[in-house]
Amino acid sequence: MTKTTMRESAEALLPADLLAFLACSTPPGWVEAALNNQALLLIDHAQCEKKAASNAMSLMYRYVDRPLLLTKMSQLAREELLHFEQVVKLMESRGIDYRHIGASRYAEGLRACVRREDPQRLVDMLIVGAFIEARSCERFACLIPHLDEELARFYRSLVKSEGRHYEDYLMLARRYAPECIDARIAFFAERERELIEAPDTTFRFHSGLPVAA
Ligand SMILES: [Fe+2]
Ligand SMILES: [Fe+2]
Repeated sequence: MTKTTMRESAEALLPADLLAFLACSTPPGWVEAALNNQALLLIDHAQCEKKAASNAMSLMYRYVDRPLLLTKMSQLAREELLHFEQVVKLMESRGIDYRHIGASRYAEGLRACVRREDPQRLVDMLIVGAFIEARSCERFACLIPHLDEELARFYRSLVKSEGRHYEDYLMLARRYAPECIDARIAFFAERERELIEAPDTTFRFHSGLPVAA
């Protein structure tokens, strides 16, 4: 598949606002690395679902006075744990052993830019959540045209739910921000683009441009 065709098929699966939210597309080199490392992709994918649930629960512990956040994050955590179970089941059926692997630089790279004081901290955490969900969604869409039918079907279902999670995080960020967050979104969009496009020696679900170690 050519670079343009690949991008077109990924874009067809994604809402326009989500594509516009991200400052760059996944580099074709990452898709190639993912297809050559499907066992590692699935192990890290399982890790990401578990972390997504645990991050949502951390927000629920910290911001107990925000009922909408509590409801949305509780729903999100349950969905992420369901995704986790689905990935683990798929791994089992494919004979892939679940083992502990280190995280990519991606989420930490974004969280390093989160401001320390509330409500700015909360707003930044929610914006970071929106980027992680939007990028996951975009990566599933990039992979789908190249995968076997079973994995493609599973990832198509995830495009829908992670797309909803992106919307929920962004809605909550706008709701709890004392001022317009467009500049803050632009700031994180640029940081996120760097993490996706800069050379990265460790392949993971959210890693950057693959290069040899
Ligand atoms: Fe998920
Ligand atoms: Fe999600």
